[in-house]
Amino acid sequence: MASIMISEAHDHLGHSVTLKGWLYNRRSSGKILFLQFRDGTGVLQAVVSEPENPELFAASARLPRETSVIVSGTLREDRRAPSGCEMQLTALQVVHEPTSDFPIELKEQTPGFLLDHRHLWIRTGRQVPILRVRDAAFRAFRAFFHERGFVATEAPILTGASVEGTTTLFELDYFGDKAYLSQSGQLYLEATAMALGRVYWVGPAFRAEKSKTRKHVTEFWIAEAEMAFYDHDANLALQEDLVRYLVETVVGERGDDLAALERDTDRLLAEVREPFARLDYGDAIALLKGKGHAVEFGDDFGAPEEETLGTHFGRPVFIERFPVSMKPFYMKRDPKDPSRVLAADLIAPEGYGEIIGGSQRVDSEAELVSQLEENKLPRAPYEWYIDLRRYGSVPHSGFGMGLERVITWICGAAHIREVIPFPRQIHRLYP
Ligand code: 4AD
Ligand code: MG
Repeated sequence: MASIMISEAHDHLGHSVTLKGWLYNRRSSGKILFLQFRDGTGVLQAVVSEPENPELFAASARLPRETSVIVSGTLREDRRAPSGCEMQLTALQVVHEPTSDFPIELKEQTPGFLLDHRHLWIRTGRQVPILRVRDAAFRAFRAFFHERGFVATEAPILTGASVEGTTTLFELDYFGDKAYLSQSGQLYLEATAMALGRVYWVGPAFRAEKSKTRKHVTEFWIAEAEMAFYDHDANLALQEDLVRYLVETVVGERGDDLAALERDTDRLLAEVREPFARLDYGDAIALLKGKGHAVEFGDDFGAPEEETLGTHFGRPVFIERFPVSMKPFYMKRDPKDPSRVLAADLIAPEGYGEIIGGSQRVDSEAELVSQLEENKLPRAPYEWYIDLRRYGSVPHSGFGMGLERVITWICGAAHIREVIPFPRQIHRLYP
């Protein structure tokens, strides 16, 4: 008898198979018991009838949810079932029977309760398809760059200086010195790009964000790329290709999971099909003012502004050329207007907010030194970074994408905390 995963069930119609998993749910209708089993690849319904198999019926009827089991039975087509088939149960072996009722019910529970039981919550409902979509998004990001000849690299997590400003740094004691958890691998990727040309990585990033929003976690996964000899326009073109590739690949690969999440994938695909919108920061401020937002030139966008911009265009929109004062020390100034930087944020549609931040980097030693001073940053921890401008400096650009932000958008999830296995927020470090 073949031992299969539920995702393969449809290839074994008419045959007897064995599968290993957990009892997800159960209901009965008179003398028939409907048992739902899950194994991480899907959910399969099995039936057992009391008149035909009284012993198996009695044994199955008393099992609590989340009992781990090895079951056997014959598969037959059932067009109404999500997996397209149903099992006629013939044998059931208990691996472990829960010692008390499984705390997660298959109906609404409060977010606080669910988050306290995140280690168990992930077995249920929308959580499994979301985590499978997450896997596909990580893989698609890496595949995109691998296919284009970029080299995968790594950046340290323990660092001696900030990238994205000092207000969101997690500080720790490093043998008597101060160290910080990395906010972004960018500075190190700039160094590896000078060695390898075009590089990328996916790694954890930490922000001591006090913001309690649907879009912020204190630990997230940043997906970054850095390219020697790329200018601002080449940088945006690459980001646009990447986002389109990611959405199309994940929808293609995880259509079933997105259907289970009731995500409108036609809408999602339509959003990325057309060229992305591109808007100067000043024009974005004018547009927002026209729509009643109380923003002034020089202001950062909050969630309401991002929502308006994303909804207005109905597709991803680059906001570019921000005022110098709004952005970090490493961005190159626009030669046509030195009060602006050659940077862009990519805003997702439907209110999912900023998914990418990127820029062309300062490539002159003198400019970098003066921008460090303007930002009141000490020079010593950045000496190595200044070196990159002393030895064969080249125009170069890069960007960082918040993978959880992108996955939230692709899944149509209500909150970023649902798309990472164990979210970290201001008041959440458990489980
Ligand atoms: O815009 P950010 O701060 O840009 C950088 O870190 C650059 N050094 C990246 C680069 O150029 N290599 O962060 C990049 C992205 C944001 O656009 C957002 O999607 C995500 O990271 N992000 C967060 N995601 C979840 N929770 C948070 N607290 C986040 N902060 C930023
Ligand atoms: Mg940003």
